[in-house]
Amino acid sequence: MSQAPIGIFDSGVGGLSVWRQVVHHLPGETVLYLADQAHVPYGNRSAAEIQGHCLAITDHLVREGCKAIVVACNTASAVALQPLRQRFPQLPILGLEPAVKPAVAITRSGVVGVMATPATFQGELYRATVGRCAGSVQVVEQVCIGLADLVEQGQLEGPHCDATLRRFLDPMLAAGADTIVLGCTHYPFVIEAIRRLVGPGLAVLDPAPAVARHLGEVLEQQGLRLAPGALPAPPHRFLTTGEAAAFDRAVARLVGADCRSQALRWCRNPEGEAVLAPA
Ligand code: DGL
Repeated sequence: MSQAPIGIFDSGVGGLSVWRQVVHHLPGETVLYLADQAHVPYGNRSAAEIQGHCLAITDHLVREGCKAIVVACNTASAVALQPLRQRFPQLPILGLEPAVKPAVAITRSGVVGVMATPATFQGELYRATVGRCAGSVQVVEQVCIGLADLVEQGQLEGPHCDATLRRFLDPMLAAGADTIVLGCTHYPFVIEAIRRLVGPGLAVLDPAPAVARHLGEVLEQQGLRLAPGALPAPPHRFLTTGEAAAFDRAVARLVGADCRSQALRWCRNPEGEAVLAPA
């Protein structure tokens, strides 16, 4: 049993779709959330650059005493999960990957659509999952450049949001997809708009609840799960490398939490490595 926080990070506000599930499924646990908004979006950046950010962020969360880490970003998981596990072999580190397996299990048309960033589709994790799970099911990959930015800007509805979503949804629908996988943690924040546009016959999958349940199992297995009510839980904390007041408003809007985030800045240590420090 450990009162240390669970660290969750993303390029921005997307990982809050995982945060809310973790908070819901694991009452009594405290979460330290870090949004790397100085670098959002990650999706168009090189693997080496994303890995560098993820290693420095995890170093910071470990220094803050986190007992487990959730890489609440499909893009970061695609390129950085292995190096992170190599650097921190004792630390439970969970990642996100597009929910291709459950989608393949429920499709009736035999066509599944996956929405994600370019870096996620280029990653080995995604390729391996499709290779292992798709079988005879056709997987239509839809790169959604700009969609995470819309969510960062708080544009979750309206004509521009609908038009952007239609551009991404139409090719998957035209290919016959009856199941859509949200392969980026930002996208669950536009799930209502997606459902309205595709209609009731299609399944739209958000992997966050399954990730939160899996995190609970991992903490139990490792003796790290705090029994609910055993000790008064310290409040959840939020860190951003962006602008704190804007992030606080986004947290309130997206997950209804009262947030007084602390701003961090990227700087260089004496060895010239990028590290995080209080702003
Ligand atoms: N939320 C991130 C993901 O799950 C991506 C957004 C970005 O491109 O930064 O892939």
